[in-house]
Amino acid sequence: MSSLYLRPQLATEMAKQLLHPGVLDEGLRSGLFLSGMRRTGKTTFVLNDLIPALEQDGALVIYVDLWSDTQKSPAALVHAAICKTLTELQTPSSTIFGKLKHVRSVDMGVYGFQFGFKIDSVGQEDGPTLARALAEVVDQAKTDLVLIIDEVQHAITSEDGNQLMLALKAARDAINPRPNTPGHFLFIGTGSHRALVSELTARRNQAFAGATSIEYPVLGVDYVTHLLNRLTQDGIGPLPSVEIAVQAFSTLGNRPEELLKALRQLIYFSTPSSHPDESIRTIAATLRSAAADVELMKVEQLGVFATAIFERIASSEGDARGVFSMEAAADYSKVIGREIRVDEIQPLVGDLLAANLIMRRGHGLYGITDPFVQEIWREKKALMSKF
Ligand SMILES: Nc1ncnc2c1ncn2[C@@H]1O[C@H](COP(=O)(O)OP(=O)(O)OP(=O)(O)O)[C@@H](O)[C@H]1O
Ligand SMILES: [Mg+2]
Repeated sequence: MSSLYLRPQLATEMAKQLLHPGVLDEGLRSGLFLSGMRRTGKTTFVLNDLIPALEQDGALVIYVDLWSDTQKSPAALVHAAICKTLTELQTPSSTIFGKLKHVRSVDMGVYGFQFGFKIDSVGQEDGPTLARALAEVVDQAKTDLVLIIDEVQHAITSEDGNQLMLALKAARDAINPRPNTPGHFLFIGTGSHRALVSELTARRNQAFAGATSIEYPVLGVDYVTHLLNRLTQDGIGPLPSVEIAVQAFSTLGNRPEELLKALRQLIYFSTPSSHPDESIRTIAATLRSAAADVELMKVEQLGVFATAIFERIASSEGDARGVFSMEAAADYSKVIGREIRVDEIQPLVGDLLAANLIMRRGHGLYGITDPFVQEIWREKKALMSKF
């Protein structure tokens, strides 16, 4: 049994809705945003379930992870992925070209695709617009083109990223409404920040206003059963019941790595008198806060001043405003015990951003990157205030 638990049925259904939408699902053609907490398996699902299902259904897929290289701008990463695919499409021996032949009898001879522009000019000032480049792909491949951007929320934190989103929207609006289009351009974005990802579709000034935003379907009882079965097959035990293991998994934010850690501890520290159901409950509760502790430790290591800024953002309902205000400076001064000038704040906000602990959510707006960390921080604060 593989260590990955696959969900082909779920993926096939999603692919079908995207590629052959019924009247009610046509909104999906405007874009689909999947959001879910960190480390819950979004990327794994996209790469191992969703992309194969889309390809099986005949689509051409381009995948980009905006977290793969934080030094590069979102636009540069997306352009690079598009260029790579275009180059492969020009090469009849490439895998991607092979996949296309398998699903469609595209008559492209032995030359591969021919583009009316230089591939490496895509994304350059003198190059074609994304609308033009992607339309040529759809017209030659005669199939749907799906662009998947993992961690798409990074794209709206910069001017260059916002321009990219507008260019993608323009591509969608240029390709899809053509009466005899041989395929559609579909955009899927995933992200770890639920509020931010849904904002991408809800705010009128965002490029993808009106697109569909759904929650990533987290792993559940099927995955836990699969995992417990594998362990049983390997003769590992005593194990908790499926029901209690599912509860523990949920306590741990439906994160496979955390459940594995909990089960490892359970096995290593089990004694003849311990009861697996009781033990896993305690272990899960302890691990839950330990996971967030790693992140909170990073905040502490940045010092008291950074911690004060982090706490101001973490305690705010919704996005935090006025992180650089005079009032904020006065608050930080109180916590730190010395006079804080407004111009001292920026570098520390920079440190918190660089450590990916907070993120900029718009002009002058900040939020905690990981909502799970924020939740634990609040639980801890509430607990401390009781003493
Ligand atoms: N279906 C699955 N079966 C088994 N393990 C899984 C599955 N999905 C995810 N995992 C494990 O969970 C961990 C997190 O997965 P993944 O990186 O896909 O999550 P993510 O939500 O994309 O995380 P991030 O927020 O860091 O982008 C990985 O170690 C992965 O192997
Ligand atoms: Mg991921």
